[in-house]
Formats: sequence, C-alpha cells, structure tokens
Amino acid sequence: MFESISELPISIQKLINKAHEARKNAYAPYSFFNVGAALQLETGEIITGNNQENAAYPSGLCAERVAIFHAGSQFPNMVVTAMALTAGSIKKPNETPIPPCGACRQVLAEYEVKQEQDIEIYFMGENGKVVKSNSVKDLLPLIFDSSYL
Ligand code: THU
Repeated sequence: MFESISELPISIQKLINKAHEARKNAYAPYSFFNVGAALQLETGEIITGNNQENAAYPSGLCAERVAIFHAGSQFPNMVVTAMALTAGSIKKPNETPIPPCGACRQVLAEYEVKQEQDIEIYFMGENGKVVKSNSVKDLLPLIFDSSYL
C-alpha cells in the first residue's frame, strides 16, 4: 500500500493520471459511481476506458473491460504491463482504494495468461492511498482459464 501516488514511479503516476482523466468521461447515470482505467502497453501506448451504463442495467460494462477489450481490438498482439484504476461515487467522497470486481478480474486474467507476462494492477479511490498487486493472478487465485476447456 502506498500513502500517495507521489511514492510511485513517474511512469505509474502518469498512468494513474490518465485513469483519473478517463474517469471524468464515465457514463454512470444510474449508480453515480464513476470508474476510470488506464492500461500501459509494452509499446508505450496508453489505452483508457471508463464505465458505461445502460437503462437495461446488465448491458453496461465496467471501466476495466471497456479498456482491455478496446486495447485487445486495436492491438491484438499487445502486452499489457500495468493497469491503473480510480473509482468513486459522486454521492460520497471515497479515498479508500477500490479493487476491480470479480468479472473484470476474470477478463483481465485471460489476457495475463495469453501474454505470459504479469500485469501490475494499481487501484485507488478518487485520490489518496494506492494498492499495488503484482499480477492479476494475485487478485484471482485458482483462475478458470482455457486450459480446462
Ligand atoms: N464498475 C466498474 O467500472 N469497475 C469495477 O470493477 C466495479 C464496478 C462500475 C460498474 C457500474 O457502472 C458501477 O461501477 C457500479 O457498480
């Protein structure tokens, strides 16, 4: 756990700032809970996403999946080295680090297995403390993947 982003390398601070920027464009008129995600690709590219809700609630998608599916569609041979996440409700301030949901962990795990390289995950509230996980598999042990199919 890091007390503030200033303790992190500049490249990760930049990634977190991209996630904050992306969060501003979240479309969350139902939950009022805005999430921003930024992915660092090995090539230097940064891909962002935010949650996109829908009146038919389950049709919406989390920020993490918007970002990683976008990255996968644009850069099919991509290697993702890190992901930064920032989240918070417009109804109440939240500086507690907010971790990715289970469905997003499952989707991120697929790409981590595929690329045979760990993805660092940094997650936080709107500001304040940051939690780092060294990989998706640390957030989702005993993952279900294509080796079982
Ligand atoms: N949400 C995300 O974008 N990522 C997560 O990991 C958890 C939840 C979104 C989905 C929904 O738009 C809102 O936050 C409330 O659940």
